[in-house]
Amino acid sequence: MEWALFEDDIEAILRLKRERNAVILAHNYQTPEIFHCVSDIVGDSLALAREAQTVEADVIVMAGVHFMAETAKLLNPNKTVLIPDMAAGCSLADSITAADVRALRAAHPGVPVVTYVNTSAAVKAESDLCCTSGNAKRIVESLGTDSVIMIPDEFLARNIGKETGVRMITWAGHCEVHERFTPGEIRRMRQEHPGVVVLAHPECPPEVVAEADFAGSTAHMSDFVASGKAEKVVLITECSMSDNLAVQHPKIEFIRPCNLCPHMKRITLPAIRHALETMTTEVTIEPHLADRARAAVERMLAI
Ligand code: 13P
Ligand code: SF4
Repeated sequence: MEWALFEDDIEAILRLKRERNAVILAHNYQTPEIFHCVSDIVGDSLALAREAQTVEADVIVMAGVHFMAETAKLLNPNKTVLIPDMAAGCSLADSITAADVRALRAAHPGVPVVTYVNTSAAVKAESDLCCTSGNAKRIVESLGTDSVIMIPDEFLARNIGKETGVRMITWAGHCEVHERFTPGEIRRMRQEHPGVVVLAHPECPPEVVAEADFAGSTAHMSDFVASGKAEKVVLITECSMSDNLAVQHPKIEFIRPCNLCPHMKRITLPAIRHALETMTTEVTIEPHLADRARAAVERMLAI
């Protein structure tokens, strides 16, 4: 039904991608017409960072938020990286500055700093290594220390601290999408939809994760749904995730209470078309930050 509305932009984007030798990387929270109709690579933050390393095109368009475009640029310094809307930020990335990280390090000498990929390049540059929700446990365990400074997502740090037994020194950053879910909401869903399997993102508060059957990154949730272990699921995360998976798994019933990420929703087909038509807006990183930030991302990818 929506095809007539999208067709013109989709045709134009597919043509512009060929003309510009461009690829579109899209996060799992992008709307279905972007995720299924114009993207070349889709996935969670970890997959997008990994795949960004293998891109052969001249131009990368990030259908996601600014920190994702910055990560793609770090890994592809010689390519043009475009973000269709510069204002597509992230409440986690906005919660912390490079000076905050330096102060934390000074207050806890010798404790390694693991920075969530949802941060600016300037914050990454102050860190020992990065992590995503898909590899946070493995990254923390790889350090072999009793304590870790894990920033800026307080809830992710507490959830990983619980899983690993490592003492977390963290920061009061929260994802504005996931912090709004409550344990009561999950209990109500179970009553209203008996047998529903609850999958929660680890950016949710620990008391929400405790009510879920499974916690994992958006890619882990996607894999769980694809495994066919559940006939009825609810994804405690951003809305578009269920819309995208429902297309791929028509036999699975999706219960869809969800919260929208206003930053992800800034990326639209017309915005992507405009980015490719005008080759804007280009993401750049100051050279004095880029090498140190890249090292933190590359250490993560190596693990
Ligand atoms: P992942 O896709 O890495 O799980 O991240 C979720 C998210 O909120 C990204 O902004
Ligand atoms: Fe940031 Fe949360 Fe939006 Fe992801 S969903 S971009 S973590 S605000």
